[in-house]
Amino acid sequence: MNRVFIKTYGCQMNERDSEAVAAMLRARGYRMVQDESACDVMLLNTCSVRDMAEQKAIGKAVHVIQKKKRNPRFVLGILGCMAQNRGAELLDALPDVDLIVGTQKFHQVPDYLDNLRAAQEAGAPIASTIIDIAEEADSQNTIREHVLEDRQVTAFVSIQQGCNMDCAFCIVPKTRGDERSRPMDEIVRECEELAARGVREITLLGQIVTSYGRRDYTHTGGVTPFVQLLERVNAIPGLQRIRFTSPHPRGFKEDLIAAYGRLEKLCEYVHLPLQSGSDRILRAMNRPYTRERYRQIVDDLRRVRPDMYFSTDIIVGFPGETEEEFQQTRELFEACNYDMAYVFKYSIRSGTPAAGMADQTPDEVKEERNQVLLRILEANSNRRNATLLGTTQEVLVEGPDRKGLGYMGRTRGNRIVHFAATERLIGELVPVRIDRVSTAVLYGELALTGVNS
Ligand code: SAH
Ligand code: F3S
Repeated sequence: MNRVFIKTYGCQMNERDSEAVAAMLRARGYRMVQDESACDVMLLNTCSVRDMAEQKAIGKAVHVIQKKKRNPRFVLGILGCMAQNRGAELLDALPDVDLIVGTQKFHQVPDYLDNLRAAQEAGAPIASTIIDIAEEADSQNTIREHVLEDRQVTAFVSIQQGCNMDCAFCIVPKTRGDERSRPMDEIVRECEELAARGVREITLLGQIVTSYGRRDYTHTGGVTPFVQLLERVNAIPGLQRIRFTSPHPRGFKEDLIAAYGRLEKLCEYVHLPLQSGSDRILRAMNRPYTRERYRQIVDDLRRVRPDMYFSTDIIVGFPGETEEEFQQTRELFEACNYDMAYVFKYSIRSGTPAAGMADQTPDEVKEERNQVLLRILEANSNRRNATLLGTTQEVLVEGPDRKGLGYMGRTRGNRIVHFAATERLIGELVPVRIDRVSTAVLYGELALTGVNS
């Protein structure tokens, strides 16, 4: 019973949590497998942010449970946000699940699996489901081990857990708990170690990274703890690029905007969640900024970095969103000229303030508004990529592309580029001349003059 398969749903934080669980399990003698048909333990690391994500994981669990009928020793665990959100209630739909572990208890997974294994080896049937969704002080400090692939170039580093913003639509404050930051020294040490192991690009992760350390560190000379952290990571030798997600618009004060002008490793790509372009809807969402203020941030960032790339999150069909209010979103969405966007149809999350609001938007209207924004995004993306045609971009070589035909990497603006290269260049920053583009990716050739590639 030691082959473990982890399936991850949802955001990059979930990816990172799964990776940390895998690292802890490996250290305990478990074997991580990529083939789900060849595992003894399946762990579903789940997402609750929209109903669809929960339904997907439940569907998968229902399907997998059939396996238990053939093999009673097979272990199924549900981890993360849905485990936290629904707890023991999950057993109504999934009575045969062995393990339900919440978002503050990932580090307990190895112990729980050991216990299940010991019970099985003693011939005891698994008596009842292990459920642990308690809060745990300092659990934000437990997501720190990494499983690095051979020659892994990019890595996620968790700097914070939870969120206290209480956006009216959002389940995250419930599933992830209070906002808690990791000590800056530990984060920096983790980044240094990753750099020493060959990682060249780090993405700092949290639900609201711009608030990082606000209760634990003081501002020094108008510089927030988050920007202090960026400065320290920027100084790590070997590291080439820094990204972060997700910030909050209200975190974009003078110091962070200026950081884009002076921290050379900070990539000119900002994910800046807008949610809505209507001031009334923003207020109803409990998002503390106006469309004017948001637009100002975009303009300020473009002033510091004219080549800045922007992405965003939008929710269409928030309760009570009128056609006119949606048009305000559409208008601002066009004006900001996003290179990338995640457009979501509002999904009722029970227990959040918006769930009880009158005037829920019909599904057809959400779908229509969704399509409008996606069409704008596609046009934007094509337009941006067309401007890249014929230019030479700095690309960080990540490795062979999925089809194994060539290599892939990304520009600082987070555009994926395919090109011919050699293994020796993995982890290097190389100039690539872009000679073909599609909506989603760029294709090009190494432009190495006088360098033997
Ligand atoms: N700060 C976190 C937010 C997590 S939720 C982060 O960006 O990682 C990610 C996005 O999902 C939000 O920005 C929002 O656009 C969307 N979202 C959250 N709750 C939603 C809901 N109930 N319905 C539809 N989309 C939602
Ligand atoms: Fe959710 Fe808003 Fe926090 S979107 S994660 S409550 S900033």
